[in-house]
Amino acid sequence: MDSIFPTTIIYILLFFSTLLYYHLSKKRIKKHKLIPKLPPGSMGYPYIGETLQLYSKDPNTFFKDKQNRYGDIFKTHILGCPCVMLASPEASRFVLVTNSHLFKPTYPKSKEKMIGPSALFFHQGDYHSHLRKLVQSSLSLEAIRKLIPAIEALAISTLDSWANEHVTNTFKGMKKFSFEVGILAIFGQLEKQHKEELKKNYSIVDKGYNSFPTNLPGTTYHKALMARKRLNQIIQEIICERKEKKLLEKDLLGHFLNFENEKGQTLGNDQIADNIIGVLFAAQDTTASALTWILKYLHDDPKLLEAVKVILESLRMSSIVSFTFREAVVDVEYNGYIIPKGWKVMPLFRNIHHNPEYFNEPQNFDPYRFEVNPKPNTFVPFGNGAHSCPGNELAKVEMLILIHHLVTKFRWEVVGPQRTVQYSPFPVPHNGLPARFWKEPENHELSL
Ligand code: HEM
Repeated sequence: MDSIFPTTIIYILLFFSTLLYYHLSKKRIKKHKLIPKLPPGSMGYPYIGETLQLYSKDPNTFFKDKQNRYGDIFKTHILGCPCVMLASPEASRFVLVTNSHLFKPTYPKSKEKMIGPSALFFHQGDYHSHLRKLVQSSLSLEAIRKLIPAIEALAISTLDSWANEHVTNTFKGMKKFSFEVGILAIFGQLEKQHKEELKKNYSIVDKGYNSFPTNLPGTTYHKALMARKRLNQIIQEIICERKEKKLLEKDLLGHFLNFENEKGQTLGNDQIADNIIGVLFAAQDTTASALTWILKYLHDDPKLLEAVKVILESLRMSSIVSFTFREAVVDVEYNGYIIPKGWKVMPLFRNIHHNPEYFNEPQNFDPYRFEVNPKPNTFVPFGNGAHSCPGNELAKVEMLILIHHLVTKFRWEVVGPQRTVQYSPFPVPHNGLPARFWKEPENHELSL
């Protein structure tokens, strides 16, 4: 009896401790399930994160490899910031449309300074929506229709000038064209001297935008900031002249000058200048890069005849704006994952456009896939939601006009090998697609 008693107690104790352990661990599992976790992925080295990996290969390969490894939502650390990347249409819509109030636009301070801190894409709320309405109404279909003869004249003179050159850098040529169209939409017909001054100084700003932001005399960044100040002065002069002449124009500048909110507040000259530079910036390289890709695809397959579908497929294939940035303003939960406050969020448009689930054989250029509408939120070359592109109709119209005149009156051949893609920061074919252009009698049918 003496020997049995302690053994029974030991068994009873063992039984209860096992029960307690089981109960506690079940609770822990339950608790664990309730706490959302960070998405899968790797954060790389302290401070630099995975920035070196991002730049050591093509950025799109970096994102694609990550998606293959971790799925549609993954974390990383690039350019000094922890980020969550989103490669599904649903997640992209969650950030940009349905829960956009939980995320704010975010750009590096150096870039904000270069464009101008009052430009609409840095803002949210009332200020953003007032400005956006002004930009949208100056770029409405009705307003664009009135610009068509002037855009057509610009397209013809651009193409004629290329036919007189030995070799043309297509991307640079397209940049000149898209800049001129941007000026037209903002200022209407602008005096030649003002236009030349704007062009000269804007090209210095453009060079500095992607340079290392060291503000020391002699650096590209410093020169760009100086040119940015001169741009402000030129725009102030144009505003003064307009006010003196009491001109009531319907262009973007006219919309900015006539604006008055419900409290009677108007826009200051600096706010107007920042937004003009912002629109020029948003309009130039995007459209020029898209047009350069369209020329490349048309060159590679001259049988392509339906201009609208060629444009849409070029936008999908090249995915000029391959992603965008937002920042979580609070801790956000999505699909069981936590996106901590302050982390960057990047909807990856290119990954969506190149997912075989939404676009069959996505690596093939096939304009006829657009005979059927893509699934909702899977084709987003112009973004989605409150900050989506207000210039998309103008961009499509100017691309159609230029392509129409090119294929009906000109021929061209690409010069040199075309293997790589360069980033400026938008993707552009190797060396800007050097090409020779010449005029042909009108014989090519292109359906719009
Ligand atoms: C093929 C040409 C173009 C492409 C692919 C493109 C693409 C985009 C994208 C993806 C966004 C959204 C960015 C984000 O959500 O963070 C955007 C915004 C914007 N785009 Fe475009 N764009 C093009 C041409 C233009 C043109 C021609 C203009 C003006 C004339 C323009 C003006 C703007 C403006 C002002 C915004 C900011 C809107 C806001 O923050 O509310 N874009 N664009």
